[in-house]
Amino acid sequence: MSRILITSALPYINGIKHLGNLVGSMLPSDVYARFQRQRGHEVLFLCATDEHGTPAELAARAAGQTVREYCREQHDIQARAGEQFGLSFDHFGRSSNAPNHKLTQHFAAVLEKNGLIEERVDEQIYSVDDQRFLPDRYVEGTCPHCDYEKARGDQCDNCGRLLDPIDLKNPYSAISGSNKVEVRETRHLYLLQSKLQDRIADWVKSKKNWPQLTKSIANKWLKEGLRDRSITRDLQWGISVEYNGEKRPGFENKVFYVWFDAPIEYIAVTEEWAISNNENWERWWRTDKGADDVSYVQVMGKDNVAFHTVSFPCTLLGSEEPWKTVDKLKSLNWLTWYGGKFSTSENRGIFMDQALELLPADYWRWHLMANAPESDDASFTLEHFASVVNKDLADVLGNFVNRITRFCAARFGEETPSEGSYGEAEEALLAELEPRVADYTAFLEEMEFRKAFTELRAIWVAGNEYLQIAAPWTAIKKDKDRAAASVRFALNLIVLFAVLSRPVIPYTADKMFAIFGLDPEEASGWPDDIKAGLSLLKGGEKFTPADVLFKKIEDEQVEEWRAKFGAE
Ligand code: 2FM
Ligand code: ZN
Repeated sequence: MSRILITSALPYINGIKHLGNLVGSMLPSDVYARFQRQRGHEVLFLCATDEHGTPAELAARAAGQTVREYCREQHDIQARAGEQFGLSFDHFGRSSNAPNHKLTQHFAAVLEKNGLIEERVDEQIYSVDDQRFLPDRYVEGTCPHCDYEKARGDQCDNCGRLLDPIDLKNPYSAISGSNKVEVRETRHLYLLQSKLQDRIADWVKSKKNWPQLTKSIANKWLKEGLRDRSITRDLQWGISVEYNGEKRPGFENKVFYVWFDAPIEYIAVTEEWAISNNENWERWWRTDKGADDVSYVQVMGKDNVAFHTVSFPCTLLGSEEPWKTVDKLKSLNWLTWYGGKFSTSENRGIFMDQALELLPADYWRWHLMANAPESDDASFTLEHFASVVNKDLADVLGNFVNRITRFCAARFGEETPSEGSYGEAEEALLAELEPRVADYTAFLEEMEFRKAFTELRAIWVAGNEYLQIAAPWTAIKKDKDRAAASVRFALNLIVLFAVLSRPVIPYTADKMFAIFGLDPEEASGWPDDIKAGLSLLKGGEKFTPADVLFKKIEDEQVEEWRAKFGAE
């Protein structure tokens, strides 16, 4: 048994997340965490809301709330949606909680002590009417690259380029709309990443098992040369720039930049978890306190990779303290909504709370994971969703479970039949399943989700094909024992399918265990030996035939949802 720490990228606090965000980090990390728990490992799976920065302040302003109130409310909304989606976080924390303040200030202090932080004078946009600086998204204007007129100070939504607010043409305040803005000087702390170039390059090189997408993004940044980056902002909401309880002179109205404190929350959320569970967080994070044994896995969308392969490692390695760093880093591409962006304001796409109003979590979980944007961006369409649900879940898995439990109940009663013994058809299926389950396991281990779920689907299909061949409904006419044996074997397959499917469709898996009154926690250990697994039910066990596991999605529903969620 090993110890596995898993963190999902932290969702921004500003509003409930859409299906693209969900499949970009929280859902794949959940599937992996569930899989590793079933394998018997000690898993600690953590996430939190990312609560600082201009998006939080702007959203709170738009909602007419203080940032503190807004964040508390939104944290609870996101926590509830995550729970309803079956995201099995051991703790869902908040980057604005006290442990992160303390740790962020600690890191800044040690980095400064190590000569890696210096004060520099910066030029920033200042709004005369708002009487304040306008960092990042507080300023909007025309993109210098593509002339899009509503580019944000930190990034252009049209061409995707990262921007410096002072490069915008015709800048105006996102708060008041005023264009009475000017460039003023302001002091900020810079983290001297350039000094850490060789350290980070060596560290990245040592990560032999990183996937291609992750490596190529890290190497691109290293090739361009690490740039020193400003880690403070002229804002009120955030972590104050103070060491040992003393505000840094001249920084009384400034806070740390959100991208400096957010990854530190991975450590801080472990402390939050430890506090509420009377646990020890250092054994997960400090290599001098046992964390050397931990395998640390991070999951995130591709836009986050640079921050996790370069910036956060600069914080950790630059501290010269014995912190655990990431071992496996899984990154995903974008899921688009009909090839375009999900957008709350333009009512395009489905958000987590809306999804659950339409259908239970497992329908979404399966579709999103089986079609995860791994090798490339992927487009979500309702038509594709309906066809995947109808085929994979209703016709293949659902049909298998319903058909055999009902047939058994009708012909043998609500008890697994004990007559007959297994023969050629069962051996043939075993011979097919053994390598498939081994491949499925290996793909999950590598977090190759599409490949894994192609394999799982093939396993379900093999079960259906077995039923076609064994055809107990025909066999029963001539050889009742043969029919009994194949029914018993198929009922055992339901249990095996429940075990294998549980990482991705946990609610359905638990319904499948419930057919036989099995406790999912006890019954869901990962199968090392399928043959043994398939003789769990020996005959004489009571069961309850399954209700329909998955309802098909009708064309009319697709039409209705298309109109409602802005499909085009
Ligand atoms: O891109 C995002 O959604 C960020 N909130 C991710 C932060 S991940 C971590 F570093 F905190
Ligand atoms: Zn642009």
